Amino acid sequence: MSTTIEPTPTPERHAMGKSMKRKEDPRFIRGHGRYLDDFTLPGMLWMSLVHSPYPHARIVKIDKTAALAVPGVVAVLTGEDLAAHNLAWIPTFHGYDKQMVLAVGKVLYQYQEVAGVIASSREIAQDAAELVDVEYEPLDPVVNPFQSRDDKIILRDDRENKTNHIYHWEVGKREETDAAIAASDVSIKERIVFQRCHPAPLEPCGILADMNPATGRLTLYLTSQAPHAHRTVVSLVTGIPEDKIHVISPDLGGGFGNKVPVYPGYVVSAAASVVLGVPVKWIETRTENLTTTGFARDYHMDVEIGASKDGRVTALKVATVADHGAFDAAADPTKYPAGLFGIVTGSYDFPTAFTELDAYFTNKAPGGVAYRCSFRVTEASFAIERGMELLARKLNMDPSELRLLNFVKKEQFPYPSPLGFVYDSGDYHMTLRKALDMIGYEDLRKEQAQKRERGELMGIGISTFTEAVGAGPSKHFDIMGIKMFDSAEIRVHPTGSAILRAGTKSQGQGHETTWAQIAAEELGLDPQNIMVEEGDTDTAPYGLGTYASRSTPVAGAAIAMASRKIREKARKIAAHLLEAAVDDVEWTNYKFQVKGQPDHALTMQEIAFAAYTNPAPDSEPGLEATYYYDPPNLTFPYGAYIAVVDVDRETGAVKVRRFLAIDDCGTVINPMIVEGQIHGGLTEGFAIAFMQEIVYDESGNNLNTNFTEYLVPTSLETPHWETSSTCTPSPHHPIGAKGVGESPNVGSPAAFVNAVMDALAPLGVTHIDMPLTREKVWRAVRDAKGTLSA
Ligand code: CDP
Repeated sequence: MSTTIEPTPTPERHAMGKSMKRKEDPRFIRGHGRYLDDFTLPGMLWMSLVHSPYPHARIVKIDKTAALAVPGVVAVLTGEDLAAHNLAWIPTFHGYDKQMVLAVGKVLYQYQEVAGVIASSREIAQDAAELVDVEYEPLDPVVNPFQSRDDKIILRDDRENKTNHIYHWEVGKREETDAAIAASDVSIKERIVFQRCHPAPLEPCGILADMNPATGRLTLYLTSQAPHAHRTVVSLVTGIPEDKIHVISPDLGGGFGNKVPVYPGYVVSAAASVVLGVPVKWIETRTENLTTTGFARDYHMDVEIGASKDGRVTALKVATVADHGAFDAAADPTKYPAGLFGIVTGSYDFPTAFTELDAYFTNKAPGGVAYRCSFRVTEASFAIERGMELLARKLNMDPSELRLLNFVKKEQFPYPSPLGFVYDSGDYHMTLRKALDMIGYEDLRKEQAQKRERGELMGIGISTFTEAVGAGPSKHFDIMGIKMFDSAEIRVHPTGSAILRAGTKSQGQGHETTWAQIAAEELGLDPQNIMVEEGDTDTAPYGLGTYASRSTPVAGAAIAMASRKIREKARKIAAHLLEAAVDDVEWTNYKFQVKGQPDHALTMQEIAFAAYTNPAPDSEPGLEATYYYDPPNLTFPYGAYIAVVDVDRETGAVKVRRFLAIDDCGTVINPMIVEGQIHGGLTEGFAIAFMQEIVYDESGNNLNTNFTEYLVPTSLETPHWETSSTCTPSPHHPIGAKGVGESPNVGSPAAFVNAVMDALAPLGVTHIDMPLTREKVWRAVRDAKGTLSA
């Protein structure tokens, strides 16, 4: 049993702060969800991709003959065929690089897409793909970014600059930080690697492209977290006018950032449908998902922290080498090549800081997606939370005390960080103290001391992370030039029910419920009767989609603001009906009343009916509004997580005995949904900490091509989660909400690793890179030079 997230401590609310059951669940539970694979169109063909077995090779020849001879095969497309339509390459997210759709000239990573076979069935397409005869001339691969640095093998000969170095990025004060660290009483330096991992949603990516020659419209049923952005990209790349493109993102079986990029399979299927004039479908296999679609992380971070001998931090420096794979396809806003990595000072008041990053090409799949993460916030949080743990060890100080000593204080908000963010709100001391109390920290430390005397390895790990989410303010944030606002359109029907459409796209986060709750709260309507629709570019207002926990901070705000626009109009109608001056009508207790006269009151439902049957003279009939919300700042959710582990010194097995997550995401819309988000994210964080890594061998072979090699935890491995909350509302968000979806994935890996390192502290082990597999832990115990008696 876990403790539940407490509702926001506000006066009794109408719809928000309540654990309303998810409106979408009856549909999903009864098997009535409509996922991409459920869509079939008359005359539909299937597409299957041919992949390179080599990580780096020249393509000598592609022979389609045998594949084309298979009955049912309609076409085989290669990079050269696409080049004839100017589609051999597509721009990557930032617009700083481009990416091959189907390989032309050479392949740059194992499993790279080389050809597409279009056939009457999926099976025929797959079988014929194996008959496409590609002759390769293998080249030496570059499999890690440190090898890439020396430029002995240039991977991207298509680029003007003959180097594997993609970019250098830095922020902060280098000299001042170096000097402060050098002058510190104590300092730590550690290379901390956040391994390459993969979001691996249960439903892989796919497309059903339907070019209708009669209407000239291209309909794309697409596993898309950002349908409008995808429509614009398709239009820009193909020249097809945007009104002739219709993107429908149906129910999604998870996304986690994996369904943000444009993948070759999408482009080949759409091109095939345009050329052939029939619908073409492609659904990737699990292996295609793990080997070719957007990976996450792969940051190699050198973390240095200086401190005084009493534990006050003086400076932070983080220098990162990033492995971007074959193309710079990282999904980051244009002005942020390293995402929001600048949040790396975390929850601590560093007088000065500096961070720099160099990104390199390697012979690996491209990506760098924001896997349940606000653009590299996860890597940054891991770096600082591991760094603070190492510092506590060096200072021989309790890690909770070190944190409490260095936290940004609540009276310092809005807090300008040394790396350029202005944190909106928080009370880090309150949240950590609550966590320490709830878990019984002092007793656990006593228990640990007793166990250590007996030679048992017990560890307690803390992570007190801060995130920057809600991208973002248009003055800083855009993707390919499109500003990162979001939108909502609400239409209240005459009988007081409504339809709400937003530019976001749920992948399991429960938007159909929480969006209705926000509008219902603002309008005094029944959330059960507010239908939420997302994912259809013909109907939804333009928005940038759902990833990076941006939905609540941006679209959630747009929903509140659209509702308030409706309320203002409703006030005029109420004044007309109540025969009062508009200024004398007030919104009290979810009704309009003449000031001080509760018996002269009208519900929104009554007003809605009047809007269509008896509108105020000289006013526009109807009751609807659209709002495009450009946030003034990001929101800064945070949390205090504590893991308690026991390590078996004989086998290296780690048992997560307890895990407490206290999250602060400001005003909570639906406590049950927030709790579900946290359970899911903690499970992913657990998997990353202990099980998951996309590994390439020295020849560039991907060793994790399916779920027997890339492990996903089941209920048997997953620990029991304890959750709770504190609430410091965002001062600039209309309802005070901050994002939460990614917090547990961001915050938990450091808590797990810190706990295991704490357990191994008596053996002198300070750091092991994730994943902390039994073998790695067992080796560390075996190799330890510690003094612990057996
Ligand atoms: O962008 P994404 O939907 O992935 O993340 P989010 O904005 O953090 O929201 C995840 C889910 O939690 C949504 O259904 C939100 O409405 C809900 N949530 C909430 O109930 N209260 C909050 N303060 C934040 C999110």
